[in-house]
Amino acid sequence: MSKWYEFELGKAADILTRELFKLKEGETFVITADTESDMRVVEATARAAFSLGAKPMVIWTPAALGVGAAADPMLPQEALVGALKGADAWVEFNNQWIFYSETYTRAMKENDRLRYSCLVGMNADMMVRCIGRLDYPTLGEFMAKITDLTNMMKMAHICYGFNPGAKLTGDIVEDERVWGCVEWGIGHMRSAPAPSHSDGICLNASVWLDGEQVLDRGRSVHPELAELAKRLGKQ
Ligand SMILES: [Fe+2]
Repeated sequence: MSKWYEFELGKAADILTRELFKLKEGETFVITADTESDMRVVEATARAAFSLGAKPMVIWTPAALGVGAAADPMLPQEALVGALKGADAWVEFNNQWIFYSETYTRAMKENDRLRYSCLVGMNADMMVRCIGRLDYPTLGEFMAKITDLTNMMKMAHICYGFNPGAKLTGDIVEDERVWGCVEWGIGHMRSAPAPSHSDGICLNASVWLDGEQVLDRGRSVHPELAELAKRLGKQ
């Protein structure tokens, strides 16, 4: 039996607009959706934003045949970017999402005050379970605590090593370049400060990209890479 949650959805939309977006009177709030979106969610959110004194604007487009960059050719990119450039906040309910498309990148770059939330594919049931019935202040405390406990454990970067002359010496500057290794950096990065930063190296890595193996135990097996490696005196 489908769940409609007419009453509960109102509370979830109120939490989303008031507590999470912190919408203020007079702010422009863009809600994007496509023809696969749950319009109950869209309408409840627009109502809640309006009742806070914000100016909701719903942009409803056909569902693209792909997501992210694959959606770009099917999106009215100039019109979307134009609207988002003038908005204070944007919630995305598209099922075929705009997130990480050229349209998204341009909107975020050209409007650095834009507050965005990626709630792609949101439906009434999910919105009630994941937003409407939560104690957000307590969840915020929980997330702050667990973030604090794990800083140092964040992955900062993953890199390849492909210097034909490098050998394992114990000096990280050379070790991270040993041919056919991958290097995992954990801890501090500019966007997420931590007390320290440490790198670990896996020699003789096997790597698959989009299902195709390009490295096998440190040896290039991709045809073009194998040819280039040969010219560098490596495999
Ligand atoms: Fe590092």
